[in-house]
Amino acid sequence: MTAEPQQILIVGGSGGIGQALVDELLMRFPEAQIGASYYHGRRGITHERLCWRALDVRDSLAIDSWAGTFKRVDWIVNAAGYLHGSHGGPEKSIRALDPEFLLENIRINTLPTLLLAKSFAAALKQSPAPLLATVSARVGSIEDNRLGGWYSYRISKAALNMALKTLSIEWQHSHPRGCVAALHPGTNDTALSKPFQSNVAADDLFDPAYTASMFIDLLTGLKPADSGRFWAWNGEILPW
Ligand SMILES: NC(=O)c1ccc[n+]([C@@H]2O[C@H](COP(=O)([O-])OP(=O)(O)OC[C@H]3O[C@@H](n4cnc5c(N)ncnc54)[C@H](OP(=O)(O)O)[C@@H]3O)[C@@H](O)[C@H]2O)c1
Repeated sequence: MTAEPQQILIVGGSGGIGQALVDELLMRFPEAQIGASYYHGRRGITHERLCWRALDVRDSLAIDSWAGTFKRVDWIVNAAGYLHGSHGGPEKSIRALDPEFLLENIRINTLPTLLLAKSFAAALKQSPAPLLATVSARVGSIEDNRLGGWYSYRISKAALNMALKTLSIEWQHSHPRGCVAALHPGTNDTALSKPFQSNVAADDLFDPAYTASMFIDLLTGLKPADSGRFWAWNGEILPW
C-alpha cells in the first residue's frame, strides 16, 4: 500500500500466527499503534504502542463497540480461527458431520470478517489506504480440493473467501483506495494445527514468525488493483 499504516488491528492476536503478526508489525512500523484482540488465550507481550482488547469474535455487539472506539483504522488483519475444540474436530467422512460443529466453524471462521467489515467500514474509510485481510486456508479453495474430508472447516473457509471476494467488489465503490485480501499461511506450528502435524514434513511446517514476515511483505505491496484475491504466504495467487 502507498501509505504506511498508523492504526493496525490484529484480531486473534493471542494465536500463533496473530501473535507473530503483532511482533512483526511493532518492528516494521515504528510509528504505528497496534490494537490486538484475545479471547481465551493469554495476552502476549506488552508494548507502549500495543493495546489489547478482550473479544469473542462471535459477539457482533462487542465488535461494534470496539469499532466505536476508533476514528480511523488503516489495516485490519483477522487471524482468529477454529479447526477443533469442544464442539469436535474435522470430519474424515460425512458420517461424522455434526451440525453444531459446522455452525461453530461458520461462527468463528466466516461471520467475524463480515462483522468487522460492517462495523469498521466508517473508520477504514478515513484511511488513505485501507486494508482488510483475513487468514483463510487453502483447504477452503473449491478448485484445489483434492483430498475431501474436513467438511465444516472447508465450508467455513470457502464461505469466508466468498465473503471477502464480494466485499472487494463493494469496496471498489465504497473504499476505492482500499484492498481486501484472503490469506493462506501454509502449515504453521500452532495450537490449531498441532493434532494434524504428524504427516507434515519438517520443512513444510513453518514457524509463525516466518509466515508473519512473509504476510507483511505481501500486504505492504498490495494496491487497490490487487483487491479480491486469495494469496499464499509466498505471494502465489491461489484459485478460489
Ligand atoms: N496453523 C496452520 O497451519 C493454519 C493453516 C491454515 C490456516 N490457518 C488459519 O490461520 C488462522 C490462525 O490460526 P493459528 O494457527 O494461529 O491458530 P491458534 O494459534 O489456535 O490461534 C487461533 C486464534 O483464534 C482465536 N479465537 C478462536 N476462537 C475465538 C473466538 N470465539 N473469539 C475470538 N478469538 C477466537 C484464538 O484466541 P484465544 O487463543 O485468545 O482463545 C487465537 O487467537 C486461523 O484462521 C486458521 O484457520 C492456520
